Amino acid sequence: MKVLVVGGGGREHAIAWKLSQSTLVDKIYAAPGNGGICRIAECFDISGSDKKSLLKLVGEKSIDLVVVGPEAPLVDGIVDDFSEEGVKVFGFRKDAARLEGSKVWAKEFMKRHSVPTGQFDVFSEPDRAVDALDAYSPPYVIKADGLAAGKGVIIADNRDDAEKAISRMMREKAYGSAGERVVVEEYLSGEEVSVLAVFDGRDYRLFVPSQDHKRAFDGDKGPNTGGMGAYAPVPFVDEKAMESIVTKIVEPTFNGMISEGISGAGVLYFGLILTSDGPKVLEYNCRFGDPETQVVLPLLETDIAEVFMAAIEGGLKGVDFSNSSDSAVCVVVASGGYPGSYKKGFEISGLDEAEEAGVIVFHAGTKLQNGKYVTAGGRVLGVTALSGELKDAVDKAYRGVELVEFGDAFYRRDIAAKAFGQVK
Ligand code: GLY
Repeated sequence: MKVLVVGGGGREHAIAWKLSQSTLVDKIYAAPGNGGICRIAECFDISGSDKKSLLKLVGEKSIDLVVVGPEAPLVDGIVDDFSEEGVKVFGFRKDAARLEGSKVWAKEFMKRHSVPTGQFDVFSEPDRAVDALDAYSPPYVIKADGLAAGKGVIIADNRDDAEKAISRMMREKAYGSAGERVVVEEYLSGEEVSVLAVFDGRDYRLFVPSQDHKRAFDGDKGPNTGGMGAYAPVPFVDEKAMESIVTKIVEPTFNGMISEGISGAGVLYFGLILTSDGPKVLEYNCRFGDPETQVVLPLLETDIAEVFMAAIEGGLKGVDFSNSSDSAVCVVVASGGYPGSYKKGFEISGLDEAEEAGVIVFHAGTKLQNGKYVTAGGRVLGVTALSGELKDAVDKAYRGVELVEFGDAFYRRDIAAKAFGQVK
């Protein structure tokens, strides 16, 4: 089977890496890919938004399966368009991708299906959004309705900052049309957990629960990022917590999708918070998480191509889906300045040495230039280690991280510390 992976981050490297182990896959293509993906796939410099060129590539290379990594092409309907042309695509259709593409739609969906989430109000007038802050207490949660490249959720510590966030979104249009409506939401406290599930329109299977580290610096300090590291499984998501997540959140969500007729195949990411009042949904994403994928796919024991094909054909029930009982830790190594501005083009060394030390180095913002890997993005590498014990996986991942070097590199030194109760 020939497979095309759409996207070019660490998540897509993890997907391509897992596909490269499949007995069903003969050849992998990627668009646009990155330095690491291009070691295992033939890469084409085509963006995920260029559906016409991607479709042409699928025809020219007789590609049997397309796997879409990022949210933007899913929200833009790539699966609907390709399916109409008879192409097999793994990823949600436009109607289901609204669970990520519109925060307003997602919150209203949760309300319709009694999925626990924070109290919220929706506004299309900035003055009314500002007035509504009276009914909330700090910290204030302000969310732009549409996709805003991970920057559309603001947690404001005081009223002044909350008003500024509303103004930036709605009056200054900092995120364009994504900020035409905003959600003002109750702040929830507790531990955050990411639960990813593959869905075939009827049945679902769960990957191992994981925890991301969204802030840039140790101790959850600094600005929000795409994610600075992840680990799985999460020790405080025990059997009882998982049962509660499944019965209160996962099943009502999938049943809701089925009852509303938006039951395509894809991966649904449940961004959860474990509150004193039980698990609640912070957000849905219509795709694999990043960096979560860099820990959950290495723990998957089943052939991923079999899973993707079965999901598309509505046959997940017949797949022997199994996750390893090992632990996995991914430490993201980023460019200094990220998530703000940063320099690119630094040579990366130590990649082979790290891999020889037993870690998997997933590339995110890298490219191959004159035979050398250089930095080309904010999140540059995800160094993943596996072990029977979480603590060993942490140590192994950091030994790998210390072997890779590039100018201005930085990383968090406390990935998975919460699993050991070291951070509150
Ligand atoms: N790790 C957060 C996300 O994938 O959205």
